Amino acid sequence: MGIQIAPSILSADFANLERDIVAVSDADWLHVDVMDGHFVPNLTLGLPVLERLAEVSPLPVDAHLMIEDPDRWAPRYAEAGATSVTFHLEAAADPVRIARDLRALGARSSVALKPGTPVEHVMDVLVEFDMVLVMTVEPGFGGQAFMPETMPKVRALRDAARAAGHPLRIEVDGGIARDTVQAVVQAGADMLVAGSAIYSADDRAAAIAELRRVAGQ
Ligand code: DX5
Ligand code: ZN
Repeated sequence: MGIQIAPSILSADFANLERDIVAVSDADWLHVDVMDGHFVPNLTLGLPVLERLAEVSPLPVDAHLMIEDPDRWAPRYAEAGATSVTFHLEAAADPVRIARDLRALGARSSVALKPGTPVEHVMDVLVEFDMVLVMTVEPGFGGQAFMPETMPKVRALRDAARAAGHPLRIEVDGGIARDTVQAVVQAGADMLVAGSAIYSADDRAAAIAELRRVAGQ
């Protein structure tokens, strides 16, 4: 499994989303941040917008749900066209049930941990998930500084997945740029979300290529 790059459209031009999605089609996934103004102090977009984005995107959609009540809503995002659905452990009543619901709908199951959430909470149920997202900033906003103190969680997950023979993807999200890519890859991450690092560049394809190069791909 190689390193995959997932541009976050949080830093795109929301008045020109289709243009800005096509501009990153050299990447592997399209990362769509769904925020409800409750779980995080920011509000972005919901089901009807995600459904259209999934239709026009040449890349599979990685939906990152920063919302309350994922037990109810996560399966709806799979039905709306997300190939991978990531919900926050902190908001979930029954994370294993959500993971099973997502897989039953043909989506990949993925769980996210805020920087302060210990990784031990998911260790016993790792095989229920295709991916774990280790947040490398507090969720809510793009353009924040990478938190290196989250790297031991990535290492612990990679070790546990290896020991279990489980082909787990480990995603990192927040402050990922050319100066932080090596640290996350060395720790064991293989799905790199980048918002401002890609969309602040005039040439988005070159920015993606540069992230791949620094990641050693
Ligand atoms: C933040 C979002 C991220 C955000 C990352 O809560 O989950 O996906 O877009 O932005 P950058 O790459 O600018 O830190
Ligand atoms: Zn995100």
